[in-house]
Amino acid sequence: MFEKLDTPEEVFSFKLGAALKMENKVLEMLGELQEQTNRDEIRQLLAKHAGETREHIANIERSFELLGEEPDDSPCPAIEGIEKEGKATLKKIDDSIVDAGILASVIETEHHEIGVYEVLVTNAEARGAPEVAALLRKNLEQEQRTLDTVRTAAERIAHQGYAVAV
Ligand SMILES: [Fe+2]
Ligand SMILES: [Fe+2]
Repeated sequence: MFEKLDTPEEVFSFKLGAALKMENKVLEMLGELQEQTNRDEIRQLLAKHAGETREHIANIERSFELLGEEPDDSPCPAIEGIEKEGKATLKKIDDSIVDAGILASVIETEHHEIGVYEVLVTNAEARGAPEVAALLRKNLEQEQRTLDTVRTAAERIAHQGYAVAV
């Protein structure tokens, strides 16, 4: 791991390593939430995004290759915190309304991912790495589309009522 970050390029690589940690954790979370949801609609959405998340991981790994670097072992406590909060909610929540907790966790996660990729795309462009910027922009746009889809579903479900017979 970097002892110190002396250049913007090192900051970029450190944050790209954190993004890789984040995506691997997200993949794990999406798998667990698919098992816990009460709705096929949400299960399908999470399964689709798990497939996309595998692409996000591949795009980050390819970015490191293009830069001629190894992924740094950067910590990503932010996603661990989102996961922890989600798990704490799901532990207490009644089974019939579990989707209220799941949708909150997914929306919070997507917002975090979008923030991460916005910064990475800007800095990939700034360091003159257009191919890397294009790969990371793909990830960013997929996260934005996912957020839109989940938000639309979450608004409808919240108004209809979360409760299902279990
Ligand atoms: Fe992602
Ligand atoms: Fe995502």
